[in-house]
Amino acid sequence: MLVIIIFMQCDQKNITRFQKKILAWYTKNKRDLPWRNLPFDLTLQQRDPYKILVSEVMLQQTQVGRVIPKYSAWMEKFPDVTSLATASQRDVLSCWSGLGYNRRALSLQKAAKMLCDEYNGVWPREKELLKKLPGVGEYTARALLTFAFHQQVAVVDTNVRRVILTQFQISNSQFQMLSDNQMQQIADHMLPIGKAYEWNQALMDYAALELKSNKIPLRKQSSFKGSRRFYRGKLLKLLLAEKEVTWKKIEESLFSNPTPDDRVMVHTVVSEMEKEGFVRVNKAKISLRN
Ligand code: ADE
Repeated sequence: MLVIIIFMQCDQKNITRFQKKILAWYTKNKRDLPWRNLPFDLTLQQRDPYKILVSEVMLQQTQVGRVIPKYSAWMEKFPDVTSLATASQRDVLSCWSGLGYNRRALSLQKAAKMLCDEYNGVWPREKELLKKLPGVGEYTARALLTFAFHQQVAVVDTNVRRVILTQFQISNSQFQMLSDNQMQQIADHMLPIGKAYEWNQALMDYAALELKSNKIPLRKQSSFKGSRRFYRGKLLKLLLAEKEVTWKKIEESLFSNPTPDDRVMVHTVVSEMEKEGFVRVNKAKISLRN
């Protein structure tokens, strides 16, 4: 029902007015970000998809301001798919450190390996194939299609969602009733054909700069300090600094006075990170996988 009401507001005149407003705003206010304005390669008919993938994966859970210096350092160290695919895991994690959610770094490297091994460096251009790359979901696949391959598709991230909610005056409780698929349908409907590249970035900048106080309701996050993610980060830092460590060393580094519960936390975090391919447990010694 809600989607029907929204679509009723979507007559062509309203949409055109909205598109003009956003694109005019963007012309004046667009942010100069290092992953934008990449040259369009006429022979390959693309902007460097590797650079776009790295930026989008970094931006998945980290804010633009923190991503900019990390993105530049990453491009110095791993300028292309091959350099990332052949790097040691230690170098990859070390270059990622500070961005958090470190599994993203491992996924990026796995994606680079897959692009080298299975695609011979030639990127697929279909959404469903892109989604088979580790770490690439619906949003990132669409971002690659529009930003790298110039396809006319709409993306929906938290920024775009915020613009849609504001434009259609959707309340928090109504928002909870909209599925991701319905949000995507609305975004598809608003896309100015032929201008997808600018349009998608324009919505992101508009949300980030103009709707700052208009936060959309997100699921309540539990506190970071003391969480598993907190201890995973601490363990990773320790393993980047030391070649291999004992269980005791980990316990003492993560906790000042380890209790039995703290030791359970250490075992949980180590075995979780072992399963995910971050660490190797060799009898009494724990190290990063290389
Ligand atoms: N957030 C996610 N992707 C982005 C992009 N390409 N530019 C700015 N903010 C973003």
